[in-house]
Amino acid sequence: MRRNKITTPTFEAIQRAAVLLADGQLVAIPTETVYGLAANALDELAVKRIFAAKGRPATNPLIVHLADVTQLAWVTDPNLDPIVTQRINKLSQFWPGPLTLVLPRNAAVPDIVTAGLDTVAVRIPSHEVARQLIHACGFPLAAPSANRSNYVSPTLAIHVIEGLGDEVEMVLDGGPCGHGLESTIVKLDGQNVTMLRPGVITRDQIANCLGTDVLVHSHDHGNTSLLAPGMMREHYSPTTPIRFVDEIALADLPPRCGRIAFAPLATDSSDREQLLHPFIRMEVLSPTGDLSEVARELFGAIRRLDHENLDLLLVDRCEPTGVGEAIMDRLTRATAKSSRS
Ligand code: TXA
Ligand code: MG
Repeated sequence: MRRNKITTPTFEAIQRAAVLLADGQLVAIPTETVYGLAANALDELAVKRIFAAKGRPATNPLIVHLADVTQLAWVTDPNLDPIVTQRINKLSQFWPGPLTLVLPRNAAVPDIVTAGLDTVAVRIPSHEVARQLIHACGFPLAAPSANRSNYVSPTLAIHVIEGLGDEVEMVLDGGPCGHGLESTIVKLDGQNVTMLRPGVITRDQIANCLGTDVLVHSHDHGNTSLLAPGMMREHYSPTTPIRFVDEIALADLPPRCGRIAFAPLATDSSDREQLLHPFIRMEVLSPTGDLSEVARELFGAIRRLDHENLDLLLVDRCEPTGVGEAIMDRLTRATAKSSRS
């Protein structure tokens, strides 16, 4: 059974994972955001396996994971612009944690990792298992989310097996991911600070930390952007069509509908109509509508409902500010295909 690749991350298991990785194999690792599909970032052949396993286009670069800031020198340009260094120092208050920085790279990083760009994306995860593993390896780990390309990111070990059970050697089971959405990605160059992907570390937190404006990568979600090659419009799509609840009238719903609500529906408002609607499955992500909780539960709920053979999933929307910016980013992309057709 592929399920038995799921391994409790004891000290011995982490050592075994490090040996597999040194040997060029793929190991799925828990992080505080989502599970990652890891390979030795300095081993070109191993990294090729990641792209093959996920069905990921070679034009979409990977994030390199480090155990601490001293390891930045493994992958970044030794002659960074002083302003970039200064900004890294300030932003390192979010490390270890769900922040990825895109920085000028050095020659040790194989081109396949960066899709030939002159920058490298780096992050220091806070999940203890990930950090212990990177320490045990002694080399950086390239790791995209451990899902097939364009599917929803995994927040449980079993999600990895569902999508990549045959491709991965071992899944270190670190339990459910604490944040549930992928890291915030910020690009630093000599001039600008640009947010390429929103996450649970918010744009305001970055701006306040640096005392500077944060540009936002324009979300045309075009499929050809070089600045943020992975920010494609139709990404994170479940197999079942998914729409925002306010995009379609209840009367027009197909028979087998699932509903993902951020908070319990209210009996005294416009929600009343929905309360009476015979949804086949209803998932309430937070008893209080707390957006951090919504973020944590969202991908798991989408996956559960995607297994139910439904005609349509309906999901709430929220204000695109704070953590809501990341939630709406993922949902706008998840609903893009269904909304157009
Ligand atoms: O939370 C996360 O970031 C998770 C965990 C596993 O760390 N990883 C993750 O990786 O979400 P992935 O591959 O699913 O998303 C990485 C994103 C992609 O959109 C990619 O295009 C972008 O990072 N990226 C990587 N290197 C880049 C670079 N040099 N310049 C611009 N974007 C880059
Ligand atoms: Mg991904």
